[in-house]
This record gives sequence, C-alpha cells and structure tokens, in this order.
Amino acid sequence: MKHIVILISGTGSNMAALLHAAQRDRWAERLGARVAAIISNRPDAKGLQTAQAAGVATAVVDHKAYDGREAFDAALQAAIDAHQPALVVLAGFMRILTPGFVAHYAGRLVNIHPSLLPAFPGLHTHQRAIDEGCKLAGATVHQVTAELDHGQILAQAAVPVLPGDTADTLAARVLTQEHLIYPRAVADLLRKM
Ligand code: GRF
Repeated sequence: MKHIVILISGTGSNMAALLHAAQRDRWAERLGARVAAIISNRPDAKGLQTAQAAGVATAVVDHKAYDGREAFDAALQAAIDAHQPALVVLAGFMRILTPGFVAHYAGRLVNIHPSLLPAFPGLHTHQRAIDEGCKLAGATVHQVTAELDHGQILAQAAVPVLPGDTADTLAARVLTQEHLIYPRAVADLLRKM
C-alpha cells in the first residue's frame, strides 16, 4: 500500500477534498494508496478536526517549539517518515522548507499554489492578480523544489477575474477549482508510481 502524508496549517479544505476523493474513487482498491496521516505545524489548525472526524491519524509538529528551520524540518521529517510515505502532499502548509528537507522528498513532494505559476509565486496572489488587471487567475499543482513555488507543473485550472472581485471572492472561486485539480493530480501521480 502506498502511503500519502498530507501537511496542513489551517482550514484544510484541500485536504478534505483529497480525503473525499480517496474514498469516492476507492484509491485503496484502484491505486493501492491510502492517506496514512495528516500533519499540521499549528495545533489549532481546523483541518485536524476534519481529519480526526474522517478517522485519519493526525500529528502536530509545532514550529514554535523548535529553534530554527533546520530543527523544525528535522522533526517534521521524522514525523512524516514514521509513515513511510510514497507521496507527501502540501495542502495549505504555510512554512518555507529547507533545501535538505526538499531533497529528501525529491520527486514525491507536491504542492498546490493559488496562482497560475510561474505568475505570482509567494503570498497575496489574488490581490496581486487583481492589482495587475489579470483577466484570468487560477491554481497550480507542482512538484516542490528548493525554490519557493517553482518545480514542474502537474496541473492547472484557470478562472475568470470578474469586475468587482475582491481577493476573497477571487480566492473562493479559485478554491473550488483547487478542490477538483488537486485530487486528480495526486491520483495521476499515484497511478504512475
Ligand atoms: C489554498 O488556496 C492553497 O492553494 C494555498 O493555501 C490555501 C489553503 O486552503 N496554498 P485550505 O487549507 O486547503 O482550505
């Protein structure tokens, strides 16, 4: 069985979409894969409750308890590797990862970013798209490399930027697409493994 570990920091709606797809599309039978654990760097992440309600193992590695990125990433890596994952899925995980951590998971670490990369890496993507007058916005699933929000693009979805959009209304429109493309991209990867 291929194990998937999902990392979150907050709401976990992408995580919920992945858990839902795993059940609905019978990943265990069809792909020989299952979500083994959800790990959060924030003890108060709402997604932890969602995961527990779904009967998935959870763990917290609180970045505030560690002195520096290297120490945090080492603890995070140990928590992840306890599940011997085939794939590590970042789903709203709001920490910058060290190059050593990224190298350890090379080829099996993916992220979803709320812009049409390579446009708008980093934060505040929706406001930046509105400010630039973009007519299209969207989301990108990509392999994670040491450079933030770079790496091979695995899937994208575009949505229109509508007159009167705020960062919040645009984010909500993009998020509905994230919930469609992320499970699909993860399933595609698992199929090839
Ligand atoms: C999503 O927009 C994702 O693209 C970004 O952070 C947000 C997380 O949302 N990285 P959720 O926690 O999955 O609801």
